[in-house]
Amino acid sequence: MSDSCPVADTAALYDRVAGSYERWWAPVIRAAALRLLDLIELCVAQRPNALVLDLGAGTGPLARAAAARWPRVRVLALDPSQGMLDLGRAKAEETLTRRAARRVTWMAGAAERLPIADETVDAVVSSFSLQYFRRKAVALREVHRVCRPGAAIALVTWLQNGWPFVPWQVLDELLDELAIVRSQSTSEHLFRSLPSAAAMVRRAGFGGVRATAGLVDYQWELDALVHCAVEAERRQLFESLDAGTAERLLRLWRTRVEQLAGADLRYRGRVAYVSGRRR
Ligand SMILES: C[S@@+](CC[C@H](N)C(=O)[O-])C[C@H]1O[C@@H](n2cnc3c(N)ncnc32)[C@H](O)[C@@H]1O
Repeated sequence: MSDSCPVADTAALYDRVAGSYERWWAPVIRAAALRLLDLIELCVAQRPNALVLDLGAGTGPLARAAAARWPRVRVLALDPSQGMLDLGRAKAEETLTRRAARRVTWMAGAAERLPIADETVDAVVSSFSLQYFRRKAVALREVHRVCRPGAAIALVTWLQNGWPFVPWQVLDELLDELAIVRSQSTSEHLFRSLPSAAAMVRRAGFGGVRATAGLVDYQWELDALVHCAVEAERRQLFESLDAGTAERLLRLWRTRVEQLAGADLRYRGRVAYVSGRRR
């Protein structure tokens, strides 16, 4: 997207990490994300030609699954990162039938200013993207604006206060030991609780809102975790260091993580599902 994009910095970061994200991180959250399709099933059954918006689609696991699951729906996969969208489109062409792939439109855009006409969308799904929206209330009002009456909305993202992931704690300890200043965390942007997640969606004008808890549970292999940290999750940190410091940090971290028990490489994160319908 252009520099006038309200989240140009996030888009630029995702452009750079797209390949690594798809390879190392997407499998961690895939099962939790796909559950969103069950939450809009009823709406799609009532509207077989539905237009489904995948908001913050990234490389489009949900968009592709929706096109494969419902033979007549059209899917709009929207994301500010052209790199993520390009990868999603390529995967759709590789994994879907030609007809299904043609029903997915890959569109650059940000939630805060949707490039979509009023009351044209029948269902909205959004997985693990809401935490990035700078102005969530504005974004959710935009979602409300583009929804037809009766449209379904289903979101999932992280809840605060999950279980600590030991390898990240080890990395943080090393940063302290090596006196490396870490960048700000995004944890303040996560859902605080199920009631507050539901209230946010209600305030945007949706009815019948329900919030339920879920779990992301993933057993990492050491090599995959190291790739994911350096190439995607903690890429900005590693890139901000000079080559010698980055190499030393990585070597020390890897050595300490190698000494952990396998159970410490089990990643468990609490998530909230929020669903509702436009009145
Ligand atoms: C963690 S990825 C999730 C991608 C995908 N939904 C999935 O489940 O794999 C977060 C995505 O949110 C997108 N994003 C960040 N800010 C956004 C915004 N303001 N509006 C829409 N998408 C945004 C990013 O570009 C990125 O692709």
